[in-house]
Amino acid sequence: AVSPTGCPVSPEAAAFDPFDAPYQLDPAEALRWAREQQPVFYSPRLGYWVVSRYEDVKAVFRDNLLFSPSIALEKLTPAPPEAMKILESHGYAMRRTMVNEDEPDHMERRRLLMEAFLPEHLEKHEAWVRELVRDYMDRFIDKGHVDLVAEMFREIPMTVALRFLGVPEEDAQELRRFSVAHTLNTWGRPSPAQQLQIAEDVGRFWQSAQAILDRMLAEPTGEGWMYDSIRMHAEHPDIVPESYLRSMMMAILVAAHETTAFATTNAFRTLLSHRESWNDICENPALIPSAIEECLRVAGSVVAWRRIATDDTEVGGEKIPKGGRLLIVQASANQDRRHWENPEAFDIYRHNAAEHLTFGYGAHQCMGKNIARMEMRVILDEFVRRLPHMQLVEDQAFEYLPNISFRGATSLWVEWDPAQNPERRTP
Ligand code: HEM
Repeated sequence: AVSPTGCPVSPEAAAFDPFDAPYQLDPAEALRWAREQQPVFYSPRLGYWVVSRYEDVKAVFRDNLLFSPSIALEKLTPAPPEAMKILESHGYAMRRTMVNEDEPDHMERRRLLMEAFLPEHLEKHEAWVRELVRDYMDRFIDKGHVDLVAEMFREIPMTVALRFLGVPEEDAQELRRFSVAHTLNTWGRPSPAQQLQIAEDVGRFWQSAQAILDRMLAEPTGEGWMYDSIRMHAEHPDIVPESYLRSMMMAILVAAHETTAFATTNAFRTLLSHRESWNDICENPALIPSAIEECLRVAGSVVAWRRIATDDTEVGGEKIPKGGRLLIVQASANQDRRHWENPEAFDIYRHNAAEHLTFGYGAHQCMGKNIARMEMRVILDEFVRRLPHMQLVEDQAFEYLPNISFRGATSLWVEWDPAQNPERRTP
């Protein structure tokens, strides 16, 4: 086999399939051979160039003109016509939204809509996030065992996102139900039958989001980022058109929900399976922020992202033609020994852990990164104080949604002896 540039495809590259077990279980390990032998390779099964080293992944993120993000949310497995019909029947009209927009539109909008995401504006949310976290914990703290994903980690990021947007609580329940169809829809390889179910869920998600937005537009006086955006739409309809609000209402929930739920799940699993690190943060919670960065490095929730070359170019010495699609694998970059000392070691004291590429890099770097960090910090903070003796349930099987970008176990069982809860012992 040869690549589109006429180069022979190596046996490893020919065999690479991100839906096979090795990449699904551990994408960094699955690409170790590439980092060492062929850092950028064409994958015939995927139809993408796969980029595996830190400097190359960062360079692609950095140049969003030569490497356009326009395909970031393209369906990896195209929908059959029947699925398109279902989406149409729901009036589905998703346009590009920030993460997959080109310049100059992207930066103009990002600047107008950024304010609420800045750390100084996020501080005011921390107290209610903590209340929410404590409230969820109260429900199971005396039980002695829980699936943290089902009972908490899947719930909190959605609730936080909805409150951040300003969506009224009574409307929130509706949106919760459909938001998870998106991962498989965008980055999965669903069967034709699954495609139809997904199209139905995505269509209903879209309709719920529109109904809620209509109510917000009718009375645009509330507080929250969606209301900010509605006001920006009134002031600058050319930069923030109504179609943009409509797409954003759904896209922002997708951006905020599973990414943070999976990142939190991965962080707890990693810390609890490195007991000395867990004990260290229990003794000294000031270590939590750096522990979070190390968790995002070794067990990030977004493991790969996509770009398309707008001209003939080269990445890591490999020729890429105009129109070439790139899968840039952050999980692999995050374990590249050219950048990291002892990359496989999990080390919450690592001085440069925050250089991980899990939030992307450059002009499109995750706008919500400080919201996600704050949620994870508050959650960990409450757990190290209230359940420091918690342990992973041994021999549990971990499952993942089969897809190329979003990674996190779908359940995480932990157990503890409620009689040992610190708050019980020292009321
Ligand atoms: C963009 C990851 C949480 C909103 C991105 C990108 C990544 C990412 C990889 C693309 C970056 C690039 O192209 O350089 C994550 C991870 C999260 C997380 C790992 C959790 C741990 C959130 C949250 C929100 C959010 C909580 C909102 C409340 C956005 C937005 C963009 C974005 C609006 C588009 C920015 C732009 O293109 O200018 N995120 N994200 N994300 N994320 Fe996140």
